[in-house]
Amino acid sequence: MPTAKKLKNKSGKKSGAAVKSEKKARATSSAQSGPSTIDTLLDEKRSFKPKAAFAKAANAKKEVYAQARRNPEQFWGKLAEELVWNKKWRQVCSFKAPDARWFVGGKLNITESCLDRHVETSRRNKAALIWEGEPGDKQTLTYYALYRQVNKFANVLKKLGINKGDRVAIYLPMIPELMITALACARIGAIHSVVFGGFSPESLRDRIVDLEAKLLITADGGYRRGQIIPLKHDADVALAECPSIEHVVIVKRGNFLLRIKDGRDHWYHRLMQEADNFCPPVYVDSEHPLFILYTSGTTGKPKGIMHSCGGYLTGVYATTKYVFDLKDDDVFWCTADIGWVTGHSYLVYGPTANGATQVMYEGSPDWPDRDRFWQIVEDNGVSIFYTAPTAIRAFMKWGEEWPNRHDLSTLRLLGTVGEPINPEAWIWYHEVIGKGNCPIVDTWWQTETGHILITPLPGVTTTRPGSATQPFPGIEAKILDDDGREVKKGGGYLAITKPWPGMLRGIWGDRERFVETYWSKWPGIYFPGDGARVDQQGYFWILGRVDDVINTAGHRISTMEVESALVEHESVVEAAVVGIPHDLKGECLAAFVTLGGSLEFDDKTAKRLTEFVARKIGAIAKPERIIHVPDLPKTRSGKIMRRLLRDIATGKILGDTTTLADPDILARIKKQYEED
Ligand code: PRX
Repeated sequence: MPTAKKLKNKSGKKSGAAVKSEKKARATSSAQSGPSTIDTLLDEKRSFKPKAAFAKAANAKKEVYAQARRNPEQFWGKLAEELVWNKKWRQVCSFKAPDARWFVGGKLNITESCLDRHVETSRRNKAALIWEGEPGDKQTLTYYALYRQVNKFANVLKKLGINKGDRVAIYLPMIPELMITALACARIGAIHSVVFGGFSPESLRDRIVDLEAKLLITADGGYRRGQIIPLKHDADVALAECPSIEHVVIVKRGNFLLRIKDGRDHWYHRLMQEADNFCPPVYVDSEHPLFILYTSGTTGKPKGIMHSCGGYLTGVYATTKYVFDLKDDDVFWCTADIGWVTGHSYLVYGPTANGATQVMYEGSPDWPDRDRFWQIVEDNGVSIFYTAPTAIRAFMKWGEEWPNRHDLSTLRLLGTVGEPINPEAWIWYHEVIGKGNCPIVDTWWQTETGHILITPLPGVTTTRPGSATQPFPGIEAKILDDDGREVKKGGGYLAITKPWPGMLRGIWGDRERFVETYWSKWPGIYFPGDGARVDQQGYFWILGRVDDVINTAGHRISTMEVESALVEHESVVEAAVVGIPHDLKGECLAAFVTLGGSLEFDDKTAKRLTEFVARKIGAIAKPERIIHVPDLPKTRSGKIMRRLLRDIATGKILGDTTTLADPDILARIKKQYEED
C-alpha cells in the first residue's frame, strides 16, 4: 500500500505519477456526475490503513459492523440505552414509508443527556466549551456553568410565554449564547430554528413567517473578518413584516448601536439576572420536534427540515462517539457555524451528549492572520478537528508556512464534511496538518439525515482519499438507477434504503413537498439528491448533487432561489444560474441574465446585481460571475436549458441541442461568456 510519504521522491516533491493522478482526481472536485468523472475517481488507488496503536484504543471495533448488520434495531437500541430516558421505549423503530418513528413510546428531555448527567459526575467541573471571539476575547464554560446558563435561560423563555411546541428563531453570531439558547429551548420542549447570521433580513423574515415564531433571539452584532455584523439592525428590518413575533431577546456582544422597541425588546443579561437557577426538564415524546433548520431545495423557497428528539439524539451521540472516537481527555473542534446542521449535530448535541470538551470560535480563519485556526489548535491542545474541504483548499492556497508556525502535535484525528474532497486536498490535510499521523474521516451526510451516514470508522477503516468509504454501522446505502435497480458497476443515484434514527421527520408545513422531494423517486427509499458510485470493495464515492442545488463552499444554494432573487431586480428580465467548478469553493455560481429594454451592461451593473442577491439571500449566495446574454437557451416549450449553459461555462462539448427553440443562441452566449 503506498503511503503519503512514499508518494514523495527524495527532494520532497511528489512523484510524477502521483501528481498526475491528483490532477486527474482534482477534476472531479466540481462533483459533476457523468461517466468521465466516474472513470477519473477510479484512478485514485492510494489507501491508508489504520495504525495499530490507534486501532487498539479506538472506540469502534471491526465487529460493530457485523453486530449492526445482524440486528440493526438492537444495535441502535443499545446506543439509545446509553442516553437518559424518562420512560423507556416499547419499540425501537416503526416505519411506514415515508414516516418513521424511533424509540416509540419513549419519553425524554435531551438536555438531561447533554447536561444533567454530567453535572452529577466529575465532569461537572470539566470544560464543556472553550470559546474564543474573533477580537480575541475568551470564555470557558464548565459543564456546571453551561447547565446553569441553560436552566436560567429556559426560565427566561417560560417568562416570555414560550411553551412546549412553540417556535423560537435564533439569529446570533457564534457565541456561547447560541448554544445556551438552543439547549434552553430543548429544556422546555420549544422548537428552535437557528438562522445563520450571514443570512439577509429577507431570508430571516421568510423563515420567521414560515415558522410563525413567537420569539427571536439575536445580538446587537457580531464580528467577522474585523467587521461588525449588525444583526439587531438586520433583525429589525425583518421584524417589520413578522407579526408572529411577540418578544425579542438581545445578547450584548459589543457596544453596538441599536434601537430598542419598548415592550418587545429585552436585554439577555438583564433577563438572566432575574431568572431562577433551575428549570425542571419538560419530558417529551421521543418523536417530539427538537428543531427546524432551513435548507435549500430545488424550488425557490427553502425547506424547514424537521428533526425529532429521541432518534436524532441517538444518531448524533453514536456517530460522535464512533466517528470522532471521542475520549474524555479530547479537545474537539468542529469549525462549522451553528447556523448549519453540522454545528447542530457536532457542536450543540453530539459532543455534549458525549460529555466532550469543545472549542467554539466566532470568526474568520484569516483574521487577523492566516494562522488563526492553528493558533487556536495550539493554544487549546485541540485533538480532533472537523472542517470543510473548502477551508482546506483555502489553507493549501495560503501555504504551509501558516500551520508550520504552530505546534499541532496534539491533533490525533481529522475530519471533513460538506462536499466532495479532492484527493490533493485530502493528502495535504493528512501531511501538513496531520503530519501523517492522523486518520481522516470524510463524512457524508445532509441537513435531512441529521447525522453522519457514510464515513470511515477511525481505527477500523482503510481510507482512500476522495471516498467517504462505507455506511456507518446500522445504515444501509445503495446506488440505484432511475428505476430503482441496483447499480453494481459505474455511477448512479445514492439511495438510503432503510430508516435511520436521525432521519428528517418532514418539511415544516409542507407534507407534499416532503413526499415528493425525498420519497417519490423509488417507493419506500430515501433519495438524497446526490450522485455516487460504489467500487468493488464497497467504497462509496460521492459525486455531488444531481438536482438544481449547488454545493458552494460546503453550503447548499438553490439555483432557483438565486434566479428568483435576480429577476426581482428591476433591470433583469430573465436569469439562469448554474454551478461551475471553483478552485477553493468546489463549485461557485455563474448567473446568465438578460436585461430589459436597451439597458447597458457593465462591471457596475454586475456588481449591483451581485450585491442585490447578497441583500436578498445573504453573501453566501453571491454569483461569482454575471454574464449578460441576449437570450437564454430554451426548448420550444420555453424551458430554460441550464445544462447547456453549464457546458458553455465549463468548456465542455455541448450536449444535445436539438430541442432548442433558437439553435443560434448558443454561439452568441458562448461568445459573450468568453468575452466577459
Ligand atoms: O451533496 C452532498 C454534500 O452536501 C450535501 C448536504 O448539504 P447540507 O445539507 O448543507 O449538509 C452539509 C453538512 C452535512 C450532500 O447532499 N456533502 C456533504 N458531505 C459530503 C458531501 N459530498 C461529498 N462528500 C461529503 N463528505
